[in-house]
Amino acid sequence: MADHAITSLVVQGTIREERRSIRPARYVTDQFQEKGHDAELFDMKDYEIPLFTNRRDMTNDPHPDVETFGQKVEAADSLVIVTPEYNHSIPGPLKNLLDYLYPEYEDKPFSYVTVSAGGFGGVRALSHLHDITLELNAHPGPDLPVSRVADVFDEDSTLLDDTYEDKFEAFVKQAVEHTVQFI
Ligand SMILES: Cc1cc2nc3c(=O)[nH]c(=O)nc-3n(C[C@H](O)[C@H](O)[C@H](O)COP(=O)(O)O)c2cc1C
Repeated sequence: MADHAITSLVVQGTIREERRSIRPARYVTDQFQEKGHDAELFDMKDYEIPLFTNRRDMTNDPHPDVETFGQKVEAADSLVIVTPEYNHSIPGPLKNLLDYLYPEYEDKPFSYVTVSAGGFGGVRALSHLHDITLELNAHPGPDLPVSRVADVFDEDSTLLDDTYEDKFEAFVKQAVEHTVQFI
């Protein structure tokens, strides 16, 4: 067990067919687990999150999958968002998902893995995620931009580029340090 074992909810940002950002999402979830943490991947592909109609705390009858997401966020010490950049922002489905909750995020530590096919590592999505996190009264933390994702992971989420081994190790360490400040 790690000195400070934490519970992380890893939120995958896109349900696009043939999405490549699922590879780092699976990898980083495994890395948290290997270091003794309790990490779960929340993949919207496993759920049916409807288009936003109302916040979970503002309705008596939230969609069951929204309710599940809300409960998982409440139970988690921290959120790890793994997302590609789409048109210089975050994917619409991720924004739709995040908007369902608000009080549930208060004081939660966030960290981010942003992903691109090209060389910018999704940093414009990261910038928007910082703004969103602050509006949620949560705590923006460390980030790891992954450029040229197809050269970094194969389709089984195995690392192809060894230089990312240290980067992910450092990211997990920083995310845990960031989290333990708030729990
Ligand atoms: C709708 C759409 C918009 C995109 N916009 C950007 C962008 O603004 N910047 C960027 O670096 N890559 C962009 N990409 C390419 C992604 O970097 C690429 O798809 C990468 O593999 C990560 O996303 P994925 O998980 O969907 O595969 C875009 C891809 C899609 C499908």
